[in-house]
Amino acid sequence: MTNEAPTSHLYMHGFHVSPESRSRLLSQKPAILWFTGLSGAGKSAIADRVETRLHASGTLTYILDGDSVRLGLCKNLGFSVADRHENVRRVAEVAKLMADAGLVVLVCLISPFRGDRELAKTIAGNHIFAEIHVHASLAAVEARDPKGLYRLARRGAIQHFPGIDSPYEKPTAPDVFIDTCSRSINEGADIVLNWLEQP
Ligand SMILES: Nc1ncnc2c1ncn2[C@@H]1O[C@H](COP(=O)(O)OP(=O)(O)O)[C@@H](O)[C@H]1O
Ligand SMILES: [Mg+2]
Repeated sequence: MTNEAPTSHLYMHGFHVSPESRSRLLSQKPAILWFTGLSGAGKSAIADRVETRLHASGTLTYILDGDSVRLGLCKNLGFSVADRHENVRRVAEVAKLMADAGLVVLVCLISPFRGDRELAKTIAGNHIFAEIHVHASLAAVEARDPKGLYRLARRGAIQHFPGIDSPYEKPTAPDVFIDTCSRSINEGADIVLNWLEQP
């Protein structure tokens, strides 16, 4: 970022209620579940199923979904590489704050660049953080094309589309891998919940 404000005159107040006290109050361990993958791979569908199950079992959750953050928090950002970096950075900071508040946060963002996802994990600090690669082949997501975006990207009607005219850097060692060509939405949710429940 080029327009960073100087931090030399910032003084952190020593607030008494800590992330640990909020976690105790809620009787839950906060976590950040970071779903990455091509558009149409199934990030939102699986996160929705995971959240529904966590909610039903009494866990306080929140989903930060790419499409919704772009209507508000990130509405001044486009799809250039620089704006994609900033989009991920902002969402990662919000996810960290929500985890400090005690929530299990599910982030659904294509987040195509490895470095951005590493930054998200760094921003998360000591919180439990899972990089979840929701994978489907390009052929499969183009066939699904739930939002009609691949058709537009192939026609050149939209630019900078990951997998088409912009890269998607696959995670090399994700914490969780789900191939949605061979796993159902429910099976995908099971895989994530099993990971979360491990000691
Ligand atoms: N096994 C699967 N896992 C996840 N989504 C699937 C699966 N099979 C089919 N789908 C469908 O694929 C689409 C994925 O869309 P979505 O979840 O919005 O993707 P993303 O959030 O990654 O862009 C949905 O319409 C979903 O119902
Ligand atoms: Mg989505």
